[in-house]
Amino acid sequence: MAPVEAPAAQAVNVPLPMAAHFIVLNITPGDEAEDTVKAFFGNTAALIRSVERRIPEEQLSMVVGIGSPAWDRLFGAPRPAGLHEFQPLRGDKHFAPSTPGDLLLHIRAKSERMCFEMAMQCMNALGDAVVAVDEVHGFRYFEARAMIGFVDGVENPDGQDALASTLVGDEDPRFKEGSYVIVQKYLHDMKAWNATATDEQERVIGRSKQGNIEMAEDVKPTNSHSSLNVIEDAEGNQLSIVRANLPFANAARNEYGTYFIGYARDPAITEQMLINMFIGRPPGNYDRLLDFSTAVTGTLFFVPSATLLAALGDGNPFAPGAAPASGSVPTAPVAAPVSSGTLPIGSLKGQPQ
Ligand code: HEM
Repeated sequence: MAPVEAPAAQAVNVPLPMAAHFIVLNITPGDEAEDTVKAFFGNTAALIRSVERRIPEEQLSMVVGIGSPAWDRLFGAPRPAGLHEFQPLRGDKHFAPSTPGDLLLHIRAKSERMCFEMAMQCMNALGDAVVAVDEVHGFRYFEARAMIGFVDGVENPDGQDALASTLVGDEDPRFKEGSYVIVQKYLHDMKAWNATATDEQERVIGRSKQGNIEMAEDVKPTNSHSSLNVIEDAEGNQLSIVRANLPFANAARNEYGTYFIGYARDPAITEQMLINMFIGRPPGNYDRLLDFSTAVTGTLFFVPSATLLAALGDGNPFAPGAAPASGSVPTAPVAAPVSSGTLPIGSLKGQPQ
C-alpha cells in the first residue's frame, strides 16, 4: 500500500534568496479545474527543471503547498495528520485573520526575472483552473534586514537541524518528507516605527539593531518578539521552525511589509508561537512588534514531498483501491543543505549586549 518510496523533499530548505514570489491561489469550481491542478502537480518537477536549467546560477526553486479544503476536494482520505485551516487568533489588542488559499507557490531565486518566469509558466499551466488570492514580491534588503531594519532569520536552524525542524518523519509515514507552511502578510506602520527610538526598537525585538546581538536574558523584555518566539517541549528542548520571510514594499502607496513564511514539521509549533505573539505569554503579555505590524492574511498549507506531489498527478496514491505506483516517480530539486550562513552577520545568541 505504500506506492511512494524513499520520498525526496521539495526545496523547503534553500539558502536565503535575493527575491521571492509568494503566490496564493484558489481552485475554480468544477472537475475540469481539479484535473488541471492535478496535472500541474504531476508536471511541477519538469516545469521547475525547464525554467531552472536556462540559468542555473539563478538558483531557482519552487515549493508547492496545498490548503486543507483543497486537499479534501482533490484527494480526500487519507490526509496529512497536521493539515487544517489556519485558526484566527484574537488577542486583547491584535488579531491574526485566517484567509482563504487552496494553493501556495513559493518561488525563490537570485533575481526577480527568474521568479517572474517561473510564476508565468505556472499560471500558463494552471490557466482558468485557478483564481488569484494574493501575490507578493519579496526582496532581500541590505544585510538581510527586515523592513523594520533588524537582521531577520538569524536564529533559523541550520543543516540537519533545519531538516529535522521542517520535514515530516516517521510520525506520519505516508506523508514523510512533507512539511507544513504558514504564511502571513504583515503591513508595518513605518511612521510609528521610525518615530520610535532605536533603544526602544531594540527592546521590541530583543536584539541590538546595528550589531544584531541578542539581549541578555535578564534585560530582554518578556514581551519582546524574540522572547515570545522561543518555545520548548516538555523536556526543555527548543522547538524550531525555518523562516523564509522577506520584506516587500510599494513606496508610492506607502505600503511597507514583511511576508512571514514559516516551515515546520508540525504546524502546532508555529501556532504556539502565534498564540504567544497575539494572545500573549502569559495572556495579555503580547508581542510588542504587533503594535507596529498588522497581519492582513493567514493561511496554512501542507507541502507534500516532491515525490508525493508528482504522484498526486494521478490522484491520492494512498486511497483505497488506488493504482499501484508505476515505479518511475519523477523527482524534483531536493532540499539543498540550508545555510543561513549567507547572512553577513552571524548569530551571536546568548552574548551580552
Ligand atoms: C526572530 C522579524 C513575524 C518567529 C525574529 C527577528 C526578527 C524578526 C528581526 C530576530 C532575528 C532572528 O532570529 O531572525 C519579524 C518580523 C515579523 C516576524 C518583521 C513580521 C511582522 C514572526 C512570526 C513568527 C516569528 C509570525 C512565528 C509564527 C520568529 C522566531 C524567531 C524570530 C522563532 C527567533 C527567536 C529566537 O530564537 O531568538 N523575527 N518576525 N516571527 N521570529 Fe520573527
